[in-house]
Amino acid sequence: MSNYAQELRETAQAMVAPGKGILAMDESNGTCNKRFEKLGIPATEDRRRAYRELILTTPKLSEFVSGAILFDETIRQSSKSGVPFTEVMKTAGLIIGIKVDTGAKDLAGCPEEKVTEGLDGLRDRVAEYYKMGARFAKWRAVITIGEGIPSSTCIEANAHALARYAALCQEGGLVPIVEPEVLIDGNHTIERCYEVTDETLQVVFNQLRLNKVPLDQIILKPSMVISGLACPTQAGVEQVAEMTIKCLRNNVPVTVPGVAFLSGGQTYEQSSAHLNTMNLKYGSLYPWRVTFSYARAIQQPALDHWRGDDANIPAAQQILYHRAKLNGAASLGQYTPDMEKAPVSV
Ligand code: 13P
Repeated sequence: MSNYAQELRETAQAMVAPGKGILAMDESNGTCNKRFEKLGIPATEDRRRAYRELILTTPKLSEFVSGAILFDETIRQSSKSGVPFTEVMKTAGLIIGIKVDTGAKDLAGCPEEKVTEGLDGLRDRVAEYYKMGARFAKWRAVITIGEGIPSSTCIEANAHALARYAALCQEGGLVPIVEPEVLIDGNHTIERCYEVTDETLQVVFNQLRLNKVPLDQIILKPSMVISGLACPTQAGVEQVAEMTIKCLRNNVPVTVPGVAFLSGGQTYEQSSAHLNTMNLKYGSLYPWRVTFSYARAIQQPALDHWRGDDANIPAAQQILYHRAKLNGAASLGQYTPDMEKAPVSV
């Protein structure tokens, strides 16, 4: 058992405290730059730093956000006035999280499929991040639905890596966020997404057990069971909520403290509505906290408003706070679409 077992349990509980979720802001430089370029924001270290400062200094963010997942560049950066972001987060009451995978790479022998890398040297990196103040980590595996895929090779390889990552994190004092993302891209139906998510979660939990990962010291970050973006028939909110919860109940052991969804390319309104309906309608049927760990579905409207211009920071922060508040409400089943209209004075 990890020397950190009790601390890990407490951190995991705090990450999914009632009314709160986790903010993902761990875009790699490549992904962050792409999002910046779309808005004409210079893809420089300074602008990435400024944007991350905007997020982390959003007033009262910790009312609805327990912690934030950083990228390696960000955990080493400081505010404009020279305060390390790790200190900024501690002062703001945000638990420090860190992405530790090194990205999804082509899986040899399996065209169109990916395997996430990053196990080499991970023990040492975990130790360094813990010393810097991090208390949880993230590793994202990517499962693609398409003609004849996913293969069991891809699911097994990714699940095995996730489990080895989780064990190493727990050994070093970081709560592992276990993220098997079934991609929303494609024309598949929601039923197909259910099948693939069901199989993926089954294999992931098998591997976690095989690798002796205590399940009360992880957070699961799944994708929702949802229609492919290009599927002609789009399932509604009720169906997404019902099928997602059914799939989780089939696979997620009761000892797992929390399930924190990624948004995965859903609109921000959908992300809030889906999470809300799960908690409102089915909240009594499951033992885990069910909340958010969104990146785009919280950040995008704020990023759109900021556009790289620091004069827009206060308004962008209000927008970010508002999105966090709505998702905090959704994590309690208290979100309504008319909250979208509540004035954000920008
Ligand atoms: P999205 O919410 O934008 O899908 O990002 C969540 C995440 O952390 C992906 O790894």
